[in-house]
Amino acid sequence: MLPAASAEALGAWLFQIGAVGLETVDHETLRYRNLAATLPEAHVQIVGYFPSDQHSPDVLRDRLVDWLCAEGCDDAVSSLRGATIAAEDWAEAWREHFTIQRVSERIAIVPDWLAPPEPRPALTIRIHPGRAFGTGTHESTRLALCALDEALRARRATSLLDVGCGSAILSIAASLLGTERVVGIDNDEGVFDNASLNLAQNGVEGVELSAIPVAELDESFDLVVANIIAPVLQAIAGALVARTAAGGRLLLSGMLDVQLGETCRRFVDLGLSHQQTWSQGEWRAALLRKERRG
Ligand SMILES: C[S@@+](CC[C@H](N)C(=O)[O-])C[C@H]1O[C@@H](n2cnc3c(N)ncnc32)[C@H](O)[C@@H]1O
Repeated sequence: MLPAASAEALGAWLFQIGAVGLETVDHETLRYRNLAATLPEAHVQIVGYFPSDQHSPDVLRDRLVDWLCAEGCDDAVSSLRGATIAAEDWAEAWREHFTIQRVSERIAIVPDWLAPPEPRPALTIRIHPGRAFGTGTHESTRLALCALDEALRARRATSLLDVGCGSAILSIAASLLGTERVVGIDNDEGVFDNASLNLAQNGVEGVELSAIPVAELDESFDLVVANIIAPVLQAIAGALVARTAAGGRLLLSGMLDVQLGETCRRFVDLGLSHQQTWSQGEWRAALLRKERRG
């Protein structure tokens, strides 16, 4: 049980250390289930899902205790619980919480076991929740999709690089919105089975998936998108700018409000101009442009 004011920061940190799913239960949610009395008001319960082949429960618990104490949430330590769940149960747990999400007027994310909503939006993306981040349950993904939709509506892109593709959700959207060449890269090879499944069940062909580091690519793209936490965006800023073609655009998501200014400044210092910002809750996305030379 965590003070609600710390929920956003804990969620961001859990994703940063490798959570592939997150569920936040607040007073309001429990009220609908007639369970509100089990949670003090202004408190939330957070469930983070981590692949057990990569994270030891004991190490995770120690890191969580350190984080909670450092953030002044010592009272939450006594309510920490951990459990290992079988893959089938994980899928079932997701089924309970993963439902159709309308991202924008023309995009909806639909779990692969549900029928698309009616009236049918212009674009439905079918997602199988698996080992990769990018089901749309996280605000930074929905924000990146909204921003991508608007950026492509304002000006189409002939080529797009999706850095940190995860489930391939952004690559799928870009392809279905008419981008001819799409490349998705991720430094975690474990995401590609899920990404390939999602591409296939959306009928998207020709997206190249690869674990090649962004700094080692030698191609440049009309539009580069990266929904990755702010410290990583800053660390790979030079490579992201190098992959953006002259006159092209770079779309960043995964920043908290407090990180937006510093992160954008890093890219402006590298010669880009900041064009637009999108917000959802505490999360921010930004579109930057690389000027044509000469
Ligand atoms: C927040 S998820 C985004 C997934 C998906 N693109 C979305 O919008 O939901 C970030 C992804 O970036 C990957 N990642 C983190 N650092 C990276 C890096 N330096 N290069 C490439 N991928 C990276 C992670 O493995 C993860 O799959």
